[in-house]
Amino acid sequence: MWRFSAGRRGCCLAKSLIKKEVYNDFNGELVNLFRMVKCHPEALEREIALMLVSREEFCRMRAQRPEDLTELQRAARMYYLIRASYGAKISSFGCRGKDVSAIRDLYKVHERLKKVLIENQTFEECIQKQDGVRTLLYCDPPYFETEGYYGTGFCKKYHYRLAELLKAAKGKWILSYNDADFIRELYEGYRIEAVERSNNLGKGKYKELIIRNY
Ligand SMILES: C[S@@+](CC[C@H](N)C(=O)[O-])C[C@H]1O[C@@H](n2cnc3c(N)ncnc32)[C@H](O)[C@@H]1O
Repeated sequence: MWRFSAGRRGCCLAKSLIKKEVYNDFNGELVNLFRMVKCHPEALEREIALMLVSREEFCRMRAQRPEDLTELQRAARMYYLIRASYGAKISSFGCRGKDVSAIRDLYKVHERLKKVLIENQTFEECIQKQDGVRTLLYCDPPYFETEGYYGTGFCKKYHYRLAELLKAAKGKWILSYNDADFIRELYEGYRIEAVERSNNLGKGKYKELIIRNY
């Protein structure tokens, strides 16, 4: 989840008007990767430079316990597992000979994150802490009926809880979801726009919803 807080001239994503920006995710490995890109891009670049993709190496990395690694090694492992897995889902080998020895646009992302506060909280903690009349929240939660991919215990009651928090929010918000009747009903009365994007797995289009309160 991103939280943008606009300056005096109202809500706008133009960078110069933004006073504070927060990125949040409950997955500590993903958050650690973002923090390494923000703070130590050169070290991360060196750490991944000799990585190669093979099923054996993927299985070895997958079996590693993050708590036995340094933060830098954990970030490199997370990047490797995302890039080398099927559909970026981390669970199984992607069977492609991709080059993972460099992060595309690493220094652009590093620049972009320079002033972003990177948090590792639940959506509930983050929204309660960051919401305000001058805030824009962008939420990209686990999609309905794909929650299991994320291994964070996100289940149906969390979709209800997120809706409850957003409906009570003081600020503006944007939410992206898969196009499901349950989600359309949950946000009935809000502005719901149906969009399509390319499927991550390269086959056809994927239907999504962009929902907002403004
Ligand atoms: C659809 S993905 C969004 C990915 C993100 N937009 C990105 O590009 O990295 C859903 C995200 O929700 C996170 N998540 C799962 N349960 C959560 C929770 N209880 N609180 C906050 N984030 C959670 C997952 O770790 C996952 O990264």
